[in-house]
Amino acid sequence: MQVINTIVGLRKTVNTWRMAGERIAFVPTMGNLHAGHLKLVEEAKKSADRVIASVFVNPTQFGVDEDFDAYPRTEEDDKQKLDAAGIDLLFLPSVTEMYGKDAKTVVSVKDLSTLCCGASRPGHFDGVATVVCKLFNMVQPNVAFFGQKDFQQLAIIRTMVSDLNIPVKIRSVEIVRESSGLAMSSRNGYLNPDELQVAPKLYQALCAAHDEILSGEKRYSVIENEAVTYLQNAGFVPDYFSVCSADDLHKADERDTDLVVLAAAKLGRTRLIDNICISLAR
Ligand code: PAF
Repeated sequence: MQVINTIVGLRKTVNTWRMAGERIAFVPTMGNLHAGHLKLVEEAKKSADRVIASVFVNPTQFGVDEDFDAYPRTEEDDKQKLDAAGIDLLFLPSVTEMYGKDAKTVVSVKDLSTLCCGASRPGHFDGVATVVCKLFNMVQPNVAFFGQKDFQQLAIIRTMVSDLNIPVKIRSVEIVRESSGLAMSSRNGYLNPDELQVAPKLYQALCAAHDEILSGEKRYSVIENEAVTYLQNAGFVPDYFSVCSADDLHKADERDTDLVVLAAAKLGRTRLIDNICISLAR
């Protein structure tokens, strides 16, 4: 596995692969890799001749009161995992390499970026869209892989790629869960042993909503309120629990058939997100 820190170096290597007619898959990450990331790599390897991963803790997607400084940086461990997983190139840029000294351009996907997580994390998705757009321009992959846990992020990236005619296919990969049901996340490392016992209840609340909807309940606000109460009683501070249309992430109504239930809640100092998809189409 090559490790490259510069855009010039990255482009040089990628160009030789491209000239040889090789297909390139890309897995962007913020590091602190877990089995969910390695699943993305596994899927990427099936789809291309070369796999590139990036590790970059992107400052522009963290709010002022968020955990940018505390975000776990585990570079050596990440390198070992990616090497063992068989990727060809790890792109590891510095913040200056990524943004230069005075970057003025922001990519913002309207509407989608202000719903759900966007409502309580203003600017977060602009930071994500901007860095992913930049990474796509640097790497120029044929295909890129993202986890379904970040469902809203995925919807925003798909929209950006379509609106800006970026020639990259976006593939989503199913959520990887602990045996407790807790969705794998780099932020799970913040949870103390007591919180780790409680955290799977977020997924349990989603499963309960899923079952109620499949059994015919159409009063989605009732389901949402029940889930919020359940989570509060379990010790969470819920941010939102919303039954949405999977297409545009707006609140679902009884006519929608492709649904996603999205949830975010704080447990202690850790913000957890998760979701579950439901198809009512017959
Ligand atoms: O999902 C993540 O890890 C990040 O949001 C991403 C896509 C790598 C952009 O920084």
